[in-house]
Amino acid sequence: MAAIIELQRISKHYSKTIIGVDDVSLDVEDGEFVTLLGPSGCGKSTLLRMIGGFEAPTHGMIRLAGQDVTHVPPYRRDVNMVFQDYALFPHMTVGENIAYGLKIQGRSRAQARDMAVDALALVGLPDKIDQKPAQLSGGQRQRVALARAIVRRPKVLLLDEPLSALDARLRDQMRIEMKHLHEKVGITFIMVTHDQEEALTMSDRVVVMEKGRVAQDGRPQDLYDQPASPYVANFIGTTNFVAGSLTGRSPAGTRIASAAGDFTATADLALPQGAEVTLGFRPEKVRLLAEGETAANVVPGRIAEVIYYGLGLRTTVELAGGTQVHVDCLLPDSLARSAVPQPGAPVRLGIEPHNVFVFAGRVAA
Ligand SMILES: Nc1ncnc2c1ncn2[C@@H]1O[C@H](COP(=O)(O)OP(=O)(O)O)[C@@H](O)[C@H]1O
Ligand SMILES: [Mg+2]
Repeated sequence: MAAIIELQRISKHYSKTIIGVDDVSLDVEDGEFVTLLGPSGCGKSTLLRMIGGFEAPTHGMIRLAGQDVTHVPPYRRDVNMVFQDYALFPHMTVGENIAYGLKIQGRSRAQARDMAVDALALVGLPDKIDQKPAQLSGGQRQRVALARAIVRRPKVLLLDEPLSALDARLRDQMRIEMKHLHEKVGITFIMVTHDQEEALTMSDRVVVMEKGRVAQDGRPQDLYDQPASPYVANFIGTTNFVAGSLTGRSPAGTRIASAAGDFTATADLALPQGAEVTLGFRPEKVRLLAEGETAANVVPGRIAEVIYYGLGLRTTVELAGGTQVHVDCLLPDSLARSAVPQPGAPVRLGIEPHNVFVFAGRVAA
């Protein structure tokens, strides 16, 4: 597949000290659904606005379908943007809102209406064409904004936190609908969100941003299973961290010593013996071992807290050396409930080597 968007070393310096985007290079394939993910202020919207042409980069080049568009204004790029507040005209009907840009382009009234009808059908609102935005629910207004954005079939659709104004239930539903819409229209979607679940469930690829830079770029599953840094490991899902030192290598993997005990990890970092490292493992990838049960890594500890959350338990376990870690386990049936560990009880954690992340250096506690 060809790249529809190519960002080459893009930066945006708002002032000497405020750097919105810092040397980002990124290719987006034609038809891909890519999400820019990161906490507030990391530069997601700045990057999106530069792709749309609403902001000029301080350095770097932007190509759209092979053409340099770095200094081309928004209305001359084959790109459309959906804003967080939808920006619908309140005095126009739904159909007029959608057809607005088409009439400016010189289409006939009948042609524009046909295209609006098609776009509304795609977003599941075939019967709302003559209503005013005020007569619609928040979710319906969001769909109208989407219909307006895709009616001309731009090459790329930019979406800045498109679901953030909706309540939780509707947001879940719209995630699926937007993913289906993307599949149906085949346009490239580039979305911005700070919500990791949204990013993971909707996108083909997620670009995790940190302070204006790309921290990691990959498929949702790869980011989850192989985070490149503690920052990514903790921004996507949750991760327990334990300070350690690399002590050697064996056929089973890398050996790491820590105050909590020795670990073997499949991950192999090009680090010398004795190097300071940080171990990471996810709460749901740890087992509380039953008596007599064993695992490749067995780490003793003591239960500090047990929280019941319906689907399962989240326990906090204190390891030797004082580090506290979380362990999540599902409770498949009521029998298991009688075996719920109690605070103060000694436990053994079982962790498989492929579930142990190893990062160079120490994470500030
Ligand atoms: N128009 C602007 N003028 C000055 N600074 C800005 C402007 N827009 C954004 N910033 C700054 O640039 C950084 C990135 O902002 P933004 O791209 O909005 O982040 P995000 O969308 O990830 O929350 C922040 O420090 C923000 O304060
Ligand atoms: Mg933003």
